[in-house]
Amino acid sequence: MKRIAVLTSGGDAPGMNAAVRAVVRYSVYNNIEVYGVQRGYKGLMEGDLFPMNVSSVGDIIQRGGTILKTARSLEFKTDEGQNDAINVLNVYKIDGLVVIGGDGSFRGAQKLSEKGVPAIGIPGTIDNDLAYTDFSIGFDTAVNTALDAISKLRDTSSSHERVSIVEVMGRNCGDIALYAGLGGGAEAIIVPEVEYDIDEICKKLIDSKQRGKTQSIIVVAEGAASATTIGALISEKSGMDTRTTILGHIQRGGSPSSLDRILASRMGAMAVECLISGKKARVIGIKENKIFDMDIDEALKQKRVFDKDMHELSKILSI
Ligand code: ADP
Ligand code: F6P
Repeated sequence: MKRIAVLTSGGDAPGMNAAVRAVVRYSVYNNIEVYGVQRGYKGLMEGDLFPMNVSSVGDIIQRGGTILKTARSLEFKTDEGQNDAINVLNVYKIDGLVVIGGDGSFRGAQKLSEKGVPAIGIPGTIDNDLAYTDFSIGFDTAVNTALDAISKLRDTSSSHERVSIVEVMGRNCGDIALYAGLGGGAEAIIVPEVEYDIDEICKKLIDSKQRGKTQSIIVVAEGAASATTIGALISEKSGMDTRTTILGHIQRGGSPSSLDRILASRMGAMAVECLISGKKARVIGIKENKIFDMDIDEALKQKRVFDKDMHELSKILSI
């Protein structure tokens, strides 16, 4: 392994820069040259590569976004697109590739590995929707961003005695809602994985208001329902004053939390270790605070298990 390339792909996530830094520095430490690919697979097909060194990744560990830019490319899903990318890697004499992204990006890495380019995936997505790993880079920061918003909404909701409905990201996965909801003391957490009963939620809100609660928070994952719809239903059924906040892409930005920086640093180094030891088509994960690698195909076949106990706990603690 003399020369490798690194790219970020799919939706950006805070901590991707810390992962790029780890890949570059761990490679340089091991006498491996590194090329940065701009704009994910799109840039790879177009030959948008540049050599990186220790100073290319200076002062980025604390920055959100990705200095390598990111993109989505339909063309890369085709054989022609993948062959173009492989030609570029051959021209640059690149022996291995590190892909930082979500499940879509991993499928791309799998295809490149099948065609002879050893590729290793590092999970970078705020959604935390990858079954094989406890956490992906960016999730913790996104949860903290949502928590910060919930705390602020609690202040104003309390002053006006309102119900605040907060919509967070998560298309198929309710983890951001679950963690931000439990951490933010939400009265209800609406996620794609669990059916919800709007009448039950309204009853809880009315009961707690009668007991003296001055404000309530409902967290909704974007994939489960729209906060606007939930807000309208709650005010219609309970007669309470509601306000809706959609956090949107705020959750994708910001300086990565300590957990995300550390996770990214550990995973970046492990990805390079995999390439050094001749592995291909692997993804990096974390379980019980141990970093590990596993086969991409096997990782993508795993079914996500939503933490229903944590969801139940949030109900108990917000009575
Ligand atoms: P994420 O990696 O965050 O899940 P996407 O699903 O948008 O984001 O995937 C990122 C990119 O990965 C896509 O734009 C595409 O270029 C590539 N990709 C996705 N699925 C495949 C696939 N089945 N085969 C090859 N490349 C894929
Ligand atoms: O997958 C991460 C994510 O932030 C989702 O939570 C969200 O639905 C989606 O990406 C938004 O993507 P885009 O970058 O296309 O707006």
